[in-house]
Amino acid sequence: MSQVVVFGGGGFIGSHLCRRLVKKHDVEIIDIDLEKVEGLRENERTTFHELDIRDAAAKEYSRGLIEEADIVIDLIAYANPQQYVDIPVDVVHLNYDTNLEIVEVCAETDTRLIQFSTCEVYGKVGARTGEDVEFDEDTSDLVMGPVDKHRWIYATAKQLLERMVHAHGLENDLDWTIVRPFNVIGPQMDYIVEDPGEGTPRVFASFMSSLLYNHPMHLIDGGQNRRAFTHILDAVNGLEAIIENYHEFNREIVNVGNPSNEVTIAELANRMRAVYQDLSPDGSLPETVEISGTEFYGEGYEDGERRVPNISKLTSVGWEPEYDLDDTLRDGISYYVDIHERPGTTPDPSFE
Ligand code: NAD
Ligand code: UGA
Repeated sequence: MSQVVVFGGGGFIGSHLCRRLVKKHDVEIIDIDLEKVEGLRENERTTFHELDIRDAAAKEYSRGLIEEADIVIDLIAYANPQQYVDIPVDVVHLNYDTNLEIVEVCAETDTRLIQFSTCEVYGKVGARTGEDVEFDEDTSDLVMGPVDKHRWIYATAKQLLERMVHAHGLENDLDWTIVRPFNVIGPQMDYIVEDPGEGTPRVFASFMSSLLYNHPMHLIDGGQNRRAFTHILDAVNGLEAIIENYHEFNREIVNVGNPSNEVTIAELANRMRAVYQDLSPDGSLPETVEISGTEFYGEGYEDGERRVPNISKLTSVGWEPEYDLDDTLRDGISYYVDIHERPGTTPDPSFE
């Protein structure tokens, strides 16, 4: 059993991960919003710390937690493309400056760090070359778009953070693993929007909102860009494998994704519509509308065409993704249908 400090443990991936971690470890959960882990509040292995990690007092307090920890897992970020377009300066301050301070405390205190990065650091390789390329942690180039396409500020900040984690390993003996997740989806992702205009969650939650509240599903730039979607439980299993295989993954970057689940966004919309119609007591379907990325998100948006992970590092320790796309969508959609359309049901977000 280890003492694990999870920065961002109240988020989508963090909440699922914490529910798994408490089975074996003592877990200190730090987040500005702890609602998604409310079910763990009474668990004797968890301690909740509701903090805005940008505050000086919160930094000082969390330094004490890091000093006591065996492992720090850092998931804190602005992780939504609408935020990269609307608040690019804040994205860099949180995703780079604030997270770098956590990295530095880990280096000073000799604490193992698992740092969440993103598949977006690979950037536009698939788009530029048109090649059928799998992204490899140690050999792929990281190709960002032009500066005035400031959507790439998120990936650039994450990339520099990765380079600083790596550099602290070289200069200060930091033990680290960097995780690059690929479009993980499932229950409690982002938030559901009842009325368009209330917000722009990432695509699974965006389409789910449209299906539940009957507003148009927007296919950006025709929905022709592609993503490989990962079931949240496959991601959590992968993260558990990373935590348990310390020596294999120390000072390694690790893709967490499911290359078999690649689809165009238009196909994702179709598949979600079919599953929703099958599961929902209502089952009525909204219209689909094509819209440009600039019109939908604003100036500065640019998209990545394809992102397919090479997952051989994780499969080398026995992990395999278990959920195909239909199972992944079915699990996610049934959770939301139960909550929003079957009053009185309280589905378990971790399917236990
Ligand atoms: P999320 O937004 O659900 O989680 C981020 C958490 O950080 C949230 O709970 C948020 O409240 C917390 N946070 C933000 N600012 C904070 C602050 N100032 N103080 C304290 N807490 C703060 O996102 P997620 O999807 O769970 O992503 C987790 C990590 O994984 C992020 O670093 C993200 O960049 C990365 N990632 C996720 C995916 C994915 O598929 N979900 C893909 C690639 C990378
Ligand atoms: C996101 C974020 O950058 C990060 O959270 C994370 O690093 C990455 O996902 C990930 O999940 O791996 P992206 O995949 O572009 O990046 O974000 P989504 O909002 O999920 O969009 C996926 C695709 O769907 C994009 O092509 C987008 O334009 C499209 N989309 C999105 C729609 O067609 N309609 C929508 O309503 C929303």
